[in-house]
Amino acid sequence: MTAPTVFVLSGPNLGRLGTREPEVYGSDTLDDVHAAVQREARDLGLVADCRQTNHEGELIDWLHEAVDVGADVVLNPGAFTHYSYAVRDACAIVTTSGRSLVEVHLSNPAAREEFRHTSVVAGVATGTIAGFGLQSYLLALRALV
Ligand code: DQA
Repeated sequence: MTAPTVFVLSGPNLGRLGTREPEVYGSDTLDDVHAAVQREARDLGLVADCRQTNHEGELIDWLHEAVDVGADVVLNPGAFTHYSYAVRDACAIVTTSGRSLVEVHLSNPAAREEFRHTSVVAGVATGTIAGFGLQSYLLALRALV
């Protein structure tokens, strides 16, 4: 049997991890995150397809692609979390198709500025993991299996 594929998607500004506000997001780069995700996925018998984009439409296209190929999704929507109804609607397409989608955040948005307290994605996600740095992504993979 071939290992199930999981899309691990990161949104805007996450390509700058390592130098972006390290006191909030830590010193790991996105490459470090993706390497850890690949190791964890292998241990769990999954294949991780890791991608990052700064563009809302591209992220939406990838969510549609996840549905088309039957992949579960780990998604860090970055700031889209707080206002993008288009990303929310695409996430709903994933979860209503029967796939799982775990919303992840490196930081704990609930403990930060007021505007980060709202997630428009959370209501259509299978679940949310926030506040554990790089581990948030790994915990999300575990939640999927
Ligand atoms: C983030 C939290 C968001 O509020 C922020 O806009 C990000 C990163 C996180 O991983 O903690 O870009 O999603």
